[in-house]
Parts: sequence; structure tokens; C-alpha cells
Amino acid sequence: MRIPFIAGNWKMFKTKADASAFAEEFKALYQGTDVKAAVCAPFTDLQTLVDAFKGTGIGVGAQNVHFADEGAYTGEISVAMLEEMGVDYCIVGHSERRQYFAETDETVNLKLKKLLAGPIRPIMCVGESLEQRDSGELFDFVRSQLVGGLDGISAEDMRRVVIAYEPIWAIGTGRTASPEQAEEMCAFIRKVLIDLYDEDTADEVILQYGGSVKPANATEIMNMDEIDGALVGGASLKPADLMAIIDF
Ligand code: PGA
Repeated sequence: MRIPFIAGNWKMFKTKADASAFAEEFKALYQGTDVKAAVCAPFTDLQTLVDAFKGTGIGVGAQNVHFADEGAYTGEISVAMLEEMGVDYCIVGHSERRQYFAETDETVNLKLKKLLAGPIRPIMCVGESLEQRDSGELFDFVRSQLVGGLDGISAEDMRRVVIAYEPIWAIGTGRTASPEQAEEMCAFIRKVLIDLYDEDTADEVILQYGGSVKPANATEIMNMDEIDGALVGGASLKPADLMAIIDF
């Protein structure tokens, strides 16, 4: 049984004071909900959110991490630093990091391995560009991201990885993939997981869709068989909008 899981991705929005105000409002709205939820926030907001969400069941996620234990990597944050704060999730390989910060399948793979050695669950992002969709390369491309990113990860660890399918052309554009397009790719991803692992493992992995998810389209997306959750950018910035998506 896969429990629906909605995660917000604040990207580079919200100061500590903003995060604190969000948490107070969101906690009250979330009470009594059985859909799993998390907020992935800038590093500077994480401790505030971990403290504010203690005992509420709401998870907290980072949006990136470095794969080295420690070292001369100016500006980077290690897995141990996130673990010490009590962070639950970490987004890895978001298309914005692949595009602007040279993230590759290889670095995604190193980050997943480092995270999976401890308690933090990775949310691994995959998804094609518009050119790749239009030229029909979308399935081969997403398969290659999965094969590269998951290289050497055991079936046991795989069950703790959340995969977010985020077509690049649907992120922040207001242009959502149709529920059928999202379902088709999520079904494909689960098939790749059967090839790489086995049916039982593939069956347990939470697959999220991300790209312009909002209260108005959450129900039709969440009603798809292979879609277990959503990774929500813009619409996660307001507690009421994020809660409306969780209440799909
Ligand atoms: P969006 O972003 O919901 O604003 O399209 C989704 C994401 O980038 O995770």
C-alpha cells in the first residue's frame, strides 16, 4: 500500500521569518490529515521548520546536498549536517540544479548513495525537455536518468527513494502535463524499476508528479493509478494552497 505523499518545494523563496509564519498556519490546517506531507525549504529555513513541525507528522526536506563527507567545498552542505538538524527528505537532481548547477546523473547517484547510508529519504527528480518530448526521445531519456541515477543502489534502499517525474516544460510554466501524460510516464518509470529491481520493489516506490500542480488540478492528477503524490513548487508557498492540494 503506497500512502499518498505531497511535498512542497519552496526553491529560493522564504526567509526564516516567512518560514516560521508559514509553519504556524500550516500546522493548524494539517492537523488530522492522513496524507503524508513535507516541505522542502532553503537550508536557512530547515531548523526553523524541523522545530516548528516536531510532533505534527509534517516532514522537512532540503533541496540539495553534497556527496562528500566533508571537505574544501565552499558553499556546500553535507549529509551529516542535514542529519544533525533532523531533516527527513532531500530533493536530488531537480531540473533547475541540472540546468544551472551542472548536476549530472553521476552526481545524483553519488548523492543518493550518501543519503541512503543514513535516515534521510531522497526525492530524485527526472523528466524530459519539450524538445525531447516532441522528438519522441522522452522515454529513452527518462530511462537513462533512472539507470544512471540509481546505479548500484540495492532493492532495499530503492524502497526509500521517492521518484518525482517533472517534465521540464511543465515546471513553473502554468502548463501542466495532462493526467494521462503524467500517468503514462509514471507507468513507464515503474516498468523500468521492475527491469532494474523486481515487481515487489517497484510496487513500493512512491512516484510523484511535479510541474504546475495546483489546487485546481490536484484531484485529477492524484486520481491516476501510478501517481502517488506531487512535488509542488509555486503552489506550496501559501499554506492554504498546499493544504488544498493535500486534501485533493
Ligand atoms: P511548479 O514547480 O509547481 O512551480 O511548476 C515544481 C517543481 O519545480 O518542483
